[in-house]
Amino acid sequence: TVTSAEANVKSSLIVVSNRLPFVLKQDDQGGMIRQASAGGLVTAVAPVVIKGKGLWVGWPGLHLPSDFSDTQIPESDPTDQTPTAGLKSDQVVTVNCDPDLFEMYYNGCCNGTHWPLFHSMPGRAIFSADHWRAYVAVNKLFAEKTIEALERCYKNSTNKGIPIVWVHDYHLMLCANYIREMAEEKDLKFHLAFFLHIPFPPWDIFRLFPWSDEILQGMLACDMVGFHIRDYCLNFVDCCQRNLGCRVDRKNLLVEHGGRSVRVRPLPIGIPFDRFVELAKGAKKIIKTKQKVILGVDRLDYTKGLVNRLKAFELFLERHPEYIGLVNFLQISVPSRTDVTEYQQLKEEMDQLVGRINGRFSTAIWSPIRYIFGCVGQSELAAYYRDAAVAMVTPLRDGMNLVAKEFVACQINEPPGVLIVSPFAGAGETMHEALLCNPYELGAAADVIYRALTMPEDERSLRMSRLRRREMDTDVNHWMRSFMKAMGSGVEEDDIGSTQ
Ligand code: G6P
Repeated sequence: TVTSAEANVKSSLIVVSNRLPFVLKQDDQGGMIRQASAGGLVTAVAPVVIKGKGLWVGWPGLHLPSDFSDTQIPESDPTDQTPTAGLKSDQVVTVNCDPDLFEMYYNGCCNGTHWPLFHSMPGRAIFSADHWRAYVAVNKLFAEKTIEALERCYKNSTNKGIPIVWVHDYHLMLCANYIREMAEEKDLKFHLAFFLHIPFPPWDIFRLFPWSDEILQGMLACDMVGFHIRDYCLNFVDCCQRNLGCRVDRKNLLVEHGGRSVRVRPLPIGIPFDRFVELAKGAKKIIKTKQKVILGVDRLDYTKGLVNRLKAFELFLERHPEYIGLVNFLQISVPSRTDVTEYQQLKEEMDQLVGRINGRFSTAIWSPIRYIFGCVGQSELAAYYRDAAVAMVTPLRDGMNLVAKEFVACQINEPPGVLIVSPFAGAGETMHEALLCNPYELGAAADVIYRALTMPEDERSLRMSRLRRREMDTDVNHWMRSFMKAMGSGVEEDDIGSTQ
């Protein structure tokens, strides 16, 4: 049986993303080492890049000297078991950029403007012409590097198919347009796709951005534009019609632009389900208390609804004092974008809130919240997922949210726990058997916590088995295959393997 989406790939895949699938680090001897990342995107996409002799264009996580050449990228460590291990150094194109320019692009425009705006939080967005100029410049740089990658791909590859260039996420929304322009001059043939990993906002929010037309034009340079869910597709189609006056077909999700018909497709991402099951089977027990654990796992980000979540838990304890001493909230907050003021302020707010709630309810032998601010290894994480009674995944807004999916994959014990999910996450749209919780409604959220903790075992089992079945069937390899299928002419359907 074929085990992943990589089988028989005829077309080379060139992935373009802000971050490479590994970071480069300086070791003690002044040499360079690769440190792989283990995210779902990498797990699904890297094998297809490797198999099809494709390339990956991206930022290596540090600023390299200006005379750095990609031939200096080290091969992976022989002990590396991650999916990127097989990615040879000549399959990687680094984007190396002036640190000040990168700062204005990444922290300024991407994280300071696009991130809050696309999560429908315009009040947090800063609109700066300087940041936008940096965004334009860095997108051009990524496009130049992609052209280099395409030329290299034509030279090296024995594949007969036309290469597919796949641009990822809100960092690179202009890139496809520049790639198309630059490639036309050189007469290079390729298919071009974009996938947005965050929500696409409604028109009324999107149009607040002063350069919103340019963003749409950038994305419409592709043959296919993918989003997690249909609502984001419809928002995008709506913006194309209302901002640019494009002819659109909402039923078939098509946008006409520049004499081409652009396909818009919902492609909900999944997780490497089997890998999480294996991790959960092998992980040592960490939670050893008799108290029930309610788990939250997030990057420390204001979109994740962390403050609302802890306040809902506080209200739950106030309404149900019989649970004092019997339940623990374990919140793991992974440091993220720590150079951005909004993130620094959230860190302060969370520290104070945890202290206040713990001060209010703690006894000599128990405190309600355990708060971990730091990174947690995959196996440790799987142990938490497996042994928690409840997971609360309650973002204010989230493209998909993979924590919800990882939790259900790791729920291998009977009777299982309960998933609470926000309707404002892509996961809330698709994981129908989870308990829904509006994070803005604190009273209702406190009631959902109570309902989860008191749910009968048979109901828990039924809900969890259905949730797990869906995530198993629509795992990250399924996402990869759906993408290839949506690319249509680029790949024949039987090129792609099956996970079954
Ligand atoms: C989100 C984005 C990703 C991004 C990740 C981590 O999931 O969709 O593109 O890589 O956050 O953020 P960072 O800024 O550290 O790359």
